[in-house]
Amino acid sequence: MKIAILPGDGIGTEIVAEAVKVLNVLDLKFEMETALVGGAAYEAHGHPLPESTLKLAKEADAVLFGAVGDWKYDTLDRPLRPEQAILGLRRHLGLFANFRPAICYEQLTHASSLKPELVAGLDILIIRELTGDVYFGQPRGRRTAVDGHFPGAEEAFDTMRYSRPEVERIAHVAFQTARKRNKRLTSVDKSNVLETFQFWKDIVTEVGKHYPDVALDHMYVDNAAMQLVKAPKKFDVIVTGNLFGDILSDEAAMLTGSIGMLPSASLNAGNQGLYEPSHGSAPDIAGKGIANPLATILSAAMMLRYSLNQAQAADRIESAVKAVLAQGLRTVDIHCDGNTKVGTRQMGDAVVTAITKTTIKS
Ligand code: IPM
Ligand code: MG
Repeated sequence: MKIAILPGDGIGTEIVAEAVKVLNVLDLKFEMETALVGGAAYEAHGHPLPESTLKLAKEADAVLFGAVGDWKYDTLDRPLRPEQAILGLRRHLGLFANFRPAICYEQLTHASSLKPELVAGLDILIIRELTGDVYFGQPRGRRTAVDGHFPGAEEAFDTMRYSRPEVERIAHVAFQTARKRNKRLTSVDKSNVLETFQFWKDIVTEVGKHYPDVALDHMYVDNAAMQLVKAPKKFDVIVTGNLFGDILSDEAAMLTGSIGMLPSASLNAGNQGLYEPSHGSAPDIAGKGIANPLATILSAAMMLRYSLNQAQAADRIESAVKAVLAQGLRTVDIHCDGNTKVGTRQMGDAVVTAITKTTIKS
C-alpha cells in the first residue's frame, strides 16, 4: 500500500502529521513518501505541482493531501498559484468523483449555526463532479481592448462544458452510492437557465432508468442552497457539477458545526484516490498548533476504505474519533463551555490512544 503524503501549505503540515501518526499505529504495512505541493513547492521548485510530486502521486495507490494556498500568492500568474496543484492532481489523475459527506456528530449538534433539531443526526453526502464544468472548460481567458496586454482587458470568459461520458460516469457513481445508502438521489442543476445543465439533467434522468430502485429528483441549485439551510435532513445523496458542488459542499459542511470535521475523497475510475480535509490551509492559524486534525484523520479513514481495501482499519479510526469527542476533547473550532480545549497534537494523540485501547480490547 503506497501512499503519497502531500501536506502542502498553512495548517496542512500540522494536520497531516497527525493523520500519519494515526496510520502508523494501525499495524498495517504502508509505504509512505512525502513531497512538496502548493506554495511550499513553488518556493522550493518554482512550481506548485513539480514533476516529481506528480510522479509520486501517480505511482501511489492513494494520496493523503493537506491543503494549499496563502494570500501571499494571490498576485502570481494563475498557473503558478498553489490552487493549480490540486486542480492539476485532479486532472492528471482523472479524479472525477468527489465525495463530501456532511455528518453532524452527536456531541457537536450545538456547534451548528442552525437549530439543533434541524441538524441532529444529519448524514448527507454530496457527490461533486470534479474534472469538468467551468473549472476545466475551454476556451477561457481575457480579451483586451487595444494593446493585447492585461490589465487593459475589457472582457473575461470561462466556458461551462460537460460531455456525455463525463455526466454519465458521475451519474453512475451517484446512483450506485445512493443504492448503498437510502436509495434517494437529488441531482442539482440550473437547467432553467443553462444549456449545460439541461444536458446534465437529461443524462442523469437517462442513467436513472438503469436504477429503478433509486428515487431520483431534480432541484435547481438556488433552491438546493435554500433547502440545505431550511431542512437539510430531507437530502440523502446529492449529485452535482463541479462549481455548484464546490459551493454547496462548503454550505453543507457548515451545517455540521465545523468544516474542521469533514473529510473528502476524490476517486478515479481505478479507485485510486486523493483524500483531503474539506477545509483549506487557514494561513491565519498556521503554526499555532490549534488546527483541528480530525478532518484529515477521517480522510485517512476514507482512504483505507475506498482505495486500500481496509474497511476494518477505517472503522477503528472512525470509532476512535467518536470516542475522543465523547471524552469532551475539542479543538478551538468546536469548543464550547464544559469541554476540554486541546491543540492539534493533543487531539491526534488522543485518537492514537483511543485506537490503541480498541486493540487491547479486541
Ligand atoms: C475545494 C477548493 C478548491 C476548488 C480550490 C482550492 C481550487 O475550494 O476543493 O473545494 O475550488 O475545488
Ligand atoms: Mg471549495
